[in-house]
Amino acid sequence: MREPRHAAAIVTEMVKAVRIPVTVKMRKGWDETDVNAPEVARRVVDAGAAAIAIHGRTAKQSYSGEADWPFVGDVASGLPVPVFGSGDCMEPWHIVERLHQGVSGVFVGRGVLRNPWILSQARELMAGRAVGPVPAEERAVFLLEYIDLLMSDRAGEGPGFRHLAPGEVPGVDGRQAGRGRERWVINKLRALCAWYTKGFEGGAHLRTEINRTESVPALRALIEDFFLREAGPGVSSIGAPFPSREMRAG
Ligand SMILES: Cc1cc2nc3c(=O)[nH]c(=O)nc-3n(C[C@H](O)[C@H](O)[C@H](O)COP(=O)(O)O)c2cc1C
Repeated sequence: MREPRHAAAIVTEMVKAVRIPVTVKMRKGWDETDVNAPEVARRVVDAGAAAIAIHGRTAKQSYSGEADWPFVGDVASGLPVPVFGSGDCMEPWHIVERLHQGVSGVFVGRGVLRNPWILSQARELMAGRAVGPVPAEERAVFLLEYIDLLMSDRAGEGPGFRHLAPGEVPGVDGRQAGRGRERWVINKLRALCAWYTKGFEGGAHLRTEINRTESVPALRALIEDFFLREAGPGVSSIGAPFPSREMRAG
């Protein structure tokens, strides 16, 4: 954002170098005194960018304040390529509302980490259908399947691949490598669950427990207990972050 000419020069070279569309994601500007997305967008489009995404906050804002969707819509209206907006789509109806604000589409970041169903829920709302809370069992299955995927991610790749499987250390015997993989999986789950467990009763307790966990079987047991076995508040209130009043279709 501070070097629009440089950004455009990079895009020019990228467009020459590849045969797929080159797209650019940017912020609203550097800071409140330098709100230059319109200029950066115009320059990179002139350089050949096929689409743009704009997070409606300045770099200095990081995640503070609110994403400026009217601004993103204004920039979009002046450009000949699709423009996607980004920022603060935390609930499915935010996605639906923002699709009407002059953009070709929206990017959803943190909202998906908190609620991986947000995209299908938005699609349901757009089709005029109501959306209910996600059942506790489905929430558990999502995490358990994620653990399974991570445990097998890039395992057993043949020689010549660029990356070691996560957690693998060259020259270390199988048992220790396995521990490294478990540690990696647990850390992934910690990162996801910081979002995924937000907003429902008992979520903070589950986060604390996951942060203490030392093994994958213990992690699985925690998840199963919380979502599937405890007839407690954690389960009964899982629909709470999705108020039915605002979940109405349309
Ligand atoms: C886990 C995570 C990873 C992200 N990675 C990138 C990235 O690689 N490149 C990028 O331009 N923005 C990245 N972002 C920023 C998002 O694309 C998005 O612009 C920002 O989070 C605001 O949208 P949100 O309110 O929907 O999260 C990332 C955000 C998150 C939460």
